[in-house]
Amino acid sequence: MKKKTLLFQVILAILLTNSILMNNSSNLISATLDNSDSAPSKLTNYNATSSTEYFNETSHPRYSLASRPIDLITYPHKGYPEIIIFDESLTVLVNTTSDASDWEFYLKSGNETVFLNILHTKYEGGLWHFDLKPSINSAGLFDLQLNCSAGSDYQTHSVKIMEEKSYPFTFVHLSDTHFPAYDIYNTTDICLRNIAEIKEQDIDFVIFTGDLINGPSWMFVDPLTQRPLAAEIGMRLALWVMDLLDLPVYMIAGNHDLDSSTILPDDPATIWKKYLGENPVLNYSFLDWSFIGFGSTKEGLDQNDFNFLKSAVSSRANSPNVLFYHSNYKEQASTIRNSYNIEVMLYGHEHKEILSVKDHTLYYCQAPLFYNASTIFTVLNETHLEMKESTYDFTILLEEVTESSYTLTLFTSMTLFAIVYVIIRKRKENLS
Ligand SMILES: [Fe+2]
Repeated sequence: MKKKTLLFQVILAILLTNSILMNNSSNLISATLDNSDSAPSKLTNYNATSSTEYFNETSHPRYSLASRPIDLITYPHKGYPEIIIFDESLTVLVNTTSDASDWEFYLKSGNETVFLNILHTKYEGGLWHFDLKPSINSAGLFDLQLNCSAGSDYQTHSVKIMEEKSYPFTFVHLSDTHFPAYDIYNTTDICLRNIAEIKEQDIDFVIFTGDLINGPSWMFVDPLTQRPLAAEIGMRLALWVMDLLDLPVYMIAGNHDLDSSTILPDDPATIWKKYLGENPVLNYSFLDWSFIGFGSTKEGLDQNDFNFLKSAVSSRANSPNVLFYHSNYKEQASTIRNSYNIEVMLYGHEHKEILSVKDHTLYYCQAPLFYNASTIFTVLNETHLEMKESTYDFTILLEEVTESSYTLTLFTSMTLFAIVYVIIRKRKENLS
């Protein structure tokens, strides 16, 4: 009887240890929390720009060229660019009928034009898939022009060509521009000033996490009707300003971008799709790192969003993953953490800076660009990332996950062995 009790205690101890190991997702990076509201105090010093200045396209057409709708090119485009290196080919997807012909593709930057040779083409799922190669190796940020029998399209800043991709590389996280105005803030004027400063930095690309436009902005109203200006005007203005960054910008929608407001003369969600495409998911990689972006109309994800996220992350299970989205859904996303290695989650929406580390994941909420907030991330190698002068080291995390898995397997085997041993002993005792 004493032996049985002893064995029972041993099994209990093993199971308890096992349970502790399973739940011990030790944070390898010390968690920090900063809920400071970073609104500068002198924003009211900015003078509101008149409606005439920004919205009379006849007298001030400076933004009109940058903001063309998506007509044919579904990828890459100004909100979902592609970055390639010398001698690499470029994938272009075109949405038109199967009988389209006379294809011509060009890259344009200032006075430079680079012809794109067609290496391979196929028509699948209602889309033309092109594999294109620049006729010459020329580094820079380019607009993509398409001419074909079905029409033409022109997507600004949609292709970046680099001589090579190497560590360290950098990206800047921007969010919540709320063009053309938010509350008392003339976001247009403020963002223009901030963008001038960002351009001085050495940055490879931009991640933008939603609320590009504000929707109803009473600072700017139609001089004739006194109604808020259309979402489309805000969108065109926003895209003109974002083009001034001279960087590839990965943009996902926020709740303001997809709001179906009846106050405006038009529907923001329709305008977003018209200028930035139907696909709410961005999925691209830079060296070893994968970046997955999701547009969202609300807090959290519905089942469709969740399935998208799961499949996108799982498809790159061996890469460190950076997820970006508009509003926080870290509790939902944490349930699929086992599918990937390193998780950095970037979001906006809160209009304040929040930095925390939980369950191996670095969460960062970017304050609005109109609060003069932008954050540069430097990716040092396949496991180290630097932001705000702190380096986040994921190497030990990976090693510990591996060790933990090994230990877990060992303890599970021992537990099973102990159970089998008890059963055999009990049978022997019953027989004797
Ligand atoms: Fe916002």
